[in-house]
Amino acid sequence: MQRSTFNKIRNLIYDISGISLSEDKYALVNARVAKRMRVLEIADHKNYLEYVISDDSGIELQHLMDVISTNVTSFYREADHFDYLRSALKQWTESGLRRLRIWSAASSTGEEPYTIAIEVRELIGQRPMDVKILATDISSAVIKKAIKGEYEEEKVAPISRGVRAKYFTMVKTHNGALYRAKDELKRMLSFRMFNLTHQPFPLRGPLDVIFCRNVMIYFDRDLRARLVKEFHRLLKPKGYLFVGHAESIAGMSEGFKVVKPSIYIKEK
Ligand SMILES: C[S@@+](CC[C@H](N)C(=O)[O-])C[C@H]1O[C@@H](n2cnc3c(N)ncnc32)[C@H](O)[C@@H]1O
Repeated sequence: MQRSTFNKIRNLIYDISGISLSEDKYALVNARVAKRMRVLEIADHKNYLEYVISDDSGIELQHLMDVISTNVTSFYREADHFDYLRSALKQWTESGLRRLRIWSAASSTGEEPYTIAIEVRELIGQRPMDVKILATDISSAVIKKAIKGEYEEEKVAPISRGVRAKYFTMVKTHNGALYRAKDELKRMLSFRMFNLTHQPFPLRGPLDVIFCRNVMIYFDRDLRARLVKEFHRLLKPKGYLFVGHAESIAGMSEGFKVVKPSIYIKEK
């Protein structure tokens, strides 16, 4: 791939998703774009780029985004966040909270929002409570997978056996087993495509908790600052923002107080 084509692809990705790909991502972009080129039987990167741009349906652009973006995630990733969430939810419900709104922004294949749903269900049991967990991502492919809610055995390993048995149905397949999330979890969840680069967000607050983890790391400072402002607008006072362990919103966290590294509370 010529450097000029690489730069055009980088710019395209940045304009669409806010993902900043540095010079040293050349090999990665080259390899991931080649995946799409094989599918389409296009031999040259320049021709592929022209194909993406000329596709008015936007479908190939979506495929390009799907191969470029990193969707790595897992159940109970950064587990201390869920310990903290558990204690916050316990406090809120004990003081009479009956309506809960949580947003998992950049939810990838669903492990994060399903983990949140498990924690909520474990806490409230069968007590009536108005719970909505919104899970969004820019990629249609990961949203589709999340809606399906089926995970291979190794994926559900971080969920304890007892909890797994409560909330997942095991389905035998020819090469092992799949774990399918039960309606009890799915009822609380809704999944949507959503691009974090477009503000103001078309969402109504107030939200109790926002998870925006392991995506801001790909964004530049300006976009991160804009996101944090929007999260602040949408959260209720004393609502929580969780960011990834490797992410920091230092210097842009006006109106938030750090309660633990990577966990913020809206002050006012
Ligand atoms: C590494 S995953 C993080 C998943 C989960 N939050 C976690 O921490 O395990 C990053 C996700 O961000 C999504 N993403 C990238 N750019 C985005 C954007 N502009 N708007 C929304 N989602 C985006 C990707 O599609 C990907 O699924």
